[in-house]
Amino acid sequence: MQHFTSVQDITDWSLLWQKVQQVKENPQGRKTFGAGKAMCLIFLNASLRTRLSTQRAAMNVGLDTVVFDINQGGWQLEMADGAVMNGSKAEHVKEAAAVIGSYYNLIGIRAFAQLNDRDEDYQETIIQQFKKYAGVPIISLESSVRHPLQSLTDLITIEEYKKKERPKVVLSWAPHPRALPQAVANSFLEWMPYTNYEVVLTHPEGYELSDEFTQGIRTTNNQREALQNADFVYVKNWSSYRDYGQVLRTDDEWIINEDKMLLTDSAYFMHCLPVRRNVVVTDSVINSSDSLVIPQAAHRVTAAQTVLELLLDHA
Ligand code: CP
Repeated sequence: MQHFTSVQDITDWSLLWQKVQQVKENPQGRKTFGAGKAMCLIFLNASLRTRLSTQRAAMNVGLDTVVFDINQGGWQLEMADGAVMNGSKAEHVKEAAAVIGSYYNLIGIRAFAQLNDRDEDYQETIIQQFKKYAGVPIISLESSVRHPLQSLTDLITIEEYKKKERPKVVLSWAPHPRALPQAVANSFLEWMPYTNYEVVLTHPEGYELSDEFTQGIRTTNNQREALQNADFVYVKNWSSYRDYGQVLRTDDEWIINEDKMLLTDSAYFMHCLPVRRNVVVTDSVINSSDSLVIPQAAHRVTAAQTVLELLLDHA
């Protein structure tokens, strides 16, 4: 594997699952694997899980890590080729990526969608430019379109907790007061064709995701129908893709509550976190023994360590 920016970067699934198993069984077993190498984690946005789990995973393989909050300590980056740089952006990504790549063996980048210009966001410009110019493996820590470390985490969690060979997995939209990116939902659906799960997507009208991610996915606007006999209920808010970046409704009709979980086959509740309690999900559901949010978040380390071990062969 050369980079980890989408599911398409995975070249050997059996090796990936073998690594996941090794990491789960003995996370401290390869303390010298990354010795003498270093990683730079660049953040343009806030993070708790991604920031800490990726550093923890790096510690487990003996890899040195530096976290760079580029908006606070770095120059503003120009992304466009051929730009006349006479405005506020002092450095071109062409130099910045190459320089960081000359200091570090691996680079991770978090760069959320701006939610203003859909075409611009869906080009994943920052990730693509770093891939082009850094000369070292790039890890997406969540781009404007995808969150592959979260998706790998989600699969690891479902595999660990599933009670049936082919569980029913429902991805449900839920309300949120602020406009959030579509990356987690896009990415989750992008990974689903690599499983044998029965997948159902449910959201209100107006919250359709890009066709790129939903082709072949059973979709309904009837949340209660989708939840029938579900084994896993993955809940996430996203802003509208059609009316790009807009919050079309904030009422509580789509909140996940106990009454809705009773429609399922004693399903587990999943959410990538952070979550707004009693807006997205009621306390009673997230506090219940069927809530997987903490083990799911814990597997962010498993996922990050698996990816680091696969990439270190090329770093
Ligand atoms: N789920 C997730 O990516 O969490 P953070 O935004 O806290 O990193």
